[in-house]
Amino acid sequence: MPDLQAALSYANQHQERFLEEFKDFCAIPSISTLSENAGDVARTAQWLADELARLGLERIQIIPTKLHPVVCGEWMGAPGKPVVLVYGHYDVQPVDPIEEWISPPFDPVVRGDNLYARGASDMKGQIQALLKALEALKQQGAFPVNIRFMLEGEEEMGSPSLEDFVEKHRGLLVCDVVLNCDGGIAGPDTPALTYGLRGLSYFELEVFGPSSDLHSGVFGGAVHNPAQALCELIAGMHGPDGSVNLPGFYDTVRPIEPEERAALAGLPLSDEEWKTLSGVPAPWGEAEYTITERIGARPTLEVNGLVSGFTGEGAKTVLPARAMAKLSMRLVPDQDPFEVEKQLRAYLETHAPNTIRWELRQLSGAGPGMIERDSPYMRAARQALEEVFGIPPKFKREGGSIPVVSLLKERIGADTVLMGFELPDAGFHGPNEKMHLPSFYRLIETYIRFLCIL
Ligand code: BES
Ligand code: MN
Repeated sequence: MPDLQAALSYANQHQERFLEEFKDFCAIPSISTLSENAGDVARTAQWLADELARLGLERIQIIPTKLHPVVCGEWMGAPGKPVVLVYGHYDVQPVDPIEEWISPPFDPVVRGDNLYARGASDMKGQIQALLKALEALKQQGAFPVNIRFMLEGEEEMGSPSLEDFVEKHRGLLVCDVVLNCDGGIAGPDTPALTYGLRGLSYFELEVFGPSSDLHSGVFGGAVHNPAQALCELIAGMHGPDGSVNLPGFYDTVRPIEPEERAALAGLPLSDEEWKTLSGVPAPWGEAEYTITERIGARPTLEVNGLVSGFTGEGAKTVLPARAMAKLSMRLVPDQDPFEVEKQLRAYLETHAPNTIRWELRQLSGAGPGMIERDSPYMRAARQALEEVFGIPPKFKREGGSIPVVSLLKERIGADTVLMGFELPDAGFHGPNEKMHLPSFYRLIETYIRFLCIL
């Protein structure tokens, strides 16, 4: 068993180097969704495999998938102790709108208490904290538990290869618990553990009108403009109360139990805080649910993108031939990502006018993930957080999605502890993403303590 205090002081003494290495990790533009970055994604996988080798892990492999590889490795030198499968994703989101970044997204820089870079919070900082916690423990002799790694490169695009990967490589993933580092806390001094994630179903809806773009004066008035028809369809997808109008959408939505409502009320988000955090003039959504409940425990349908017609400079009188929307739904237990596809299709079959033609394509689907709050592993996480923060963590439901959580539960039977220190204002997926460095160092300490408690 490594000496906890010695590991903690090692981590303290090496903060500067840990930060420099964290910057190297962030400097590689591992954007999974853009094919031009495929080489960078591969380079990041190699960077991680090298890190695992430095930590003394065995059976390190960079396992190819149809798209981006998964990095695996293990150390099984603690017989009788649990096997912890560490999950992380080393891919990041695209950087647009690039002009809003104060410093270039892949030129990591410290300003104030934060490291700014794409992926700094989501989630290279969390992976780096875990790697450095392991380094500190290794320096004291050995790891306190058995460790396996599964680091994927496709999470930010919906983990399209993951199901196949889990089926083919089950043997590499068998474990007692998954430590998923892709988690957040409510504030720098507010420890939290996430026990729920929403699922996601992602679509492209394309509407076709005339066979090519037309003069809007010569044809306008007697052709149903596809951009307009698409907007009409989209407008009908919500009721005036903010609820989603697809047939059967709420049939399997599990109500929030009174006990859970009371617990979530302990994580209040006022209208004012919400305005500051999001920048909106006023909150929106289902009035009978609090903001915390709307984000964490209620399903949604969002328009992620809309394209049609002339979007260049100046005026062009055109009637576009087609219009396309990217739509996605966040799902809660017990909704199914493929069942909602049928509901969306049924809505379109009923509401689409005969003046246009439409096509619907599902791009990805992931189920919602729920985590048992009172497992021995969650208790260990709770204890570690309480030791570091001096107060017990709150339990929260996250509005975002991490496809692997429900997948590993279904296919391997493995429960997850979702613990990382991504902060609500970290700018994930937006410009000027940052990692709060005091939280980064605290996370190293938390992981060290957690692994020693197990
Ligand atoms: N790190 C996020 C999930 C998350 C968000 C955790 C906020 C904690 C706090 C994750 O990388 C993510 O963004 N996932 C995508 C998944 C999708 C592409 C399937 C998401 O939620 O949009
Ligand atoms: Mn993430």
